[in-house]
Amino acid sequence: MPSRYLVTAALPYSNNRLHVGHIAGAYLPADTYVRYLRAAGHDVRFICGSDDNGVAIEISALQEKSTPQEIAAFYHDQQARDFAGLGIDFDVYGGTHHPQYVALHEQFSQELFRRIHERGYFTKRQTKQLYDAQAGRFLPDRFVRGTCHHCGFARATGDQCEACGQMIEPLLLKSPVSVITGGPTEVRETTHWYLRLADFERPLQQWLETKQGQWRPNVLNFALGQIKRGLPERSMTRDISWGVPVPLDDPDARGKVLYVWFDAPIGYLSFTAAWCARHEGDWQAYQKWWCDPDSAIVHFIGEDNTVFHALTWPAMLMADGRTQLPAAVVANNFMNHKVAGELEKISKSTTAPDAPVWIEEYLRRRLDPSSLRYYLTAQAPEAARTAFDPDEFVARNNSELVAALGNFVNRALTFADRYFDRKVPDATAQTDADRAHWGRAAEALQRVGACLSEYRFRAGLEELMAYARLCNEYFSIRAPWASRKDNMPDCAATIATCVHAVQALAVMAWPFMPAVTGKLRTMLNQPAGPVRWEPPTPLPAGHSLGEPTILFAKLDPGALGVGA
Ligand code: 2FM
Ligand code: ZN
Repeated sequence: MPSRYLVTAALPYSNNRLHVGHIAGAYLPADTYVRYLRAAGHDVRFICGSDDNGVAIEISALQEKSTPQEIAAFYHDQQARDFAGLGIDFDVYGGTHHPQYVALHEQFSQELFRRIHERGYFTKRQTKQLYDAQAGRFLPDRFVRGTCHHCGFARATGDQCEACGQMIEPLLLKSPVSVITGGPTEVRETTHWYLRLADFERPLQQWLETKQGQWRPNVLNFALGQIKRGLPERSMTRDISWGVPVPLDDPDARGKVLYVWFDAPIGYLSFTAAWCARHEGDWQAYQKWWCDPDSAIVHFIGEDNTVFHALTWPAMLMADGRTQLPAAVVANNFMNHKVAGELEKISKSTTAPDAPVWIEEYLRRRLDPSSLRYYLTAQAPEAARTAFDPDEFVARNNSELVAALGNFVNRALTFADRYFDRKVPDATAQTDADRAHWGRAAEALQRVGACLSEYRFRAGLEELMAYARLCNEYFSIRAPWASRKDNMPDCAATIATCVHAVQALAVMAWPFMPAVTGKLRTMLNQPAGPVRWEPPTPLPAGHSLGEPTILFAKLDPGALGVGA
């Protein structure tokens, strides 16, 4: 097992608010994984930041009559607030055009481009591109829309089809129109630098084959399938002005920038270096994370990013030749939104702006971030698309978090409060049943940990809840309300066992719902501090507990309704 982990979560474009699909797709599983790794004793850095370059940001600037700088800065801050509100806690949240990160990011991006160029993996090619004569601009990527030449989806953009996930060849798009003017397109000549992905088909395939049985099939099958079909060369430069300038001393490179999918993943590297500069005074210490095989690089992404992380990015790293390849690429599918019984894609244009699927809206309603983390993990789209269903959210909050987990904690700690003077009772009269329940904490921790280390977050959460249900059963079977009347030592042993179970729940909850751990520790009157993934040392008899409080609030049926 590696001793260090560099965990990244896909850099969100800084042109939109975050919604539950983003969080369930990449950021929550990544945060859960990082929290688990740290508790299990690993040295981890958690890297993310905004994807500020490229056409998507330029289009938003045009639509909002603003500048790319302003758009990127505004949404960068908004997204950072949303993440913080949900307890998603990066070591660094950079930005590829953010004033504090842009210099190092451009340095890394240009250096990588130059090196790949020197090593001969680019082909400079005169090419035909779609052009908007009215706007006087080329139309790369999302600047053009049309019908997908793979699957026939009518609103494909010039970079990737969101219906079939495949890369688009803009000149093959059917009925293309300019997103800038809405007008027709024409074809003009320009020059670009193409990465010859075909040169990497064999090494990519060999590398991916070593991941069989470890990575999710959704990533492996997609990537291997693409290789089978043959990897086309990909242009890594663009005719736009917003981005990282092409670093070549060549008149044809003038006024061009790097393709956003070339520079964005380099953000993982440059933000690591920024973290090292800030905390260790040496940006070059990023090599400890990127070049040393004792460190594993794990990328968390949404399904539409698979082609870039499992093929293009590793090919770039192979072409560069100085870093190791990702140890894992963990992709989730999309999460849709259930509205009035119908499934809808969550999007700026169709989803109500005050729907609580937008993280900003959820937090504005002062709903519990732990409940959202719980539901999004329980419904995580790990193997197929799932839906955020507000009614189901409320039902699961009430029947699982409130009625199982919260209920056990409440029963146990209010009992200690009422009948043991809010102190941990003496456990010396423990029975076999008590000892058996004590042992279940270690088993549950082991099972949850095994799931998390294999990226099976839903299954890990189910194990946690199975343990919470066992705790409730244990409480009912041992019936301390009865033993209190005729066998006080037995009652004390039961409640001491329950307090230990609450301690174990505080550990197990940490990766999924860190704020719950905080609340439990307060109720247990335990000092805050790092969580360790091991059966907790029992609090001694006589330890004063804190005041028992409600762990989860029951929600009304309409709590997540639009306009609530
Ligand atoms: O799909 C997206 O939102 C992209 N901005 C993800 C980029 S991930 C990485 F490569 F930076
Ligand atoms: Zn398609």
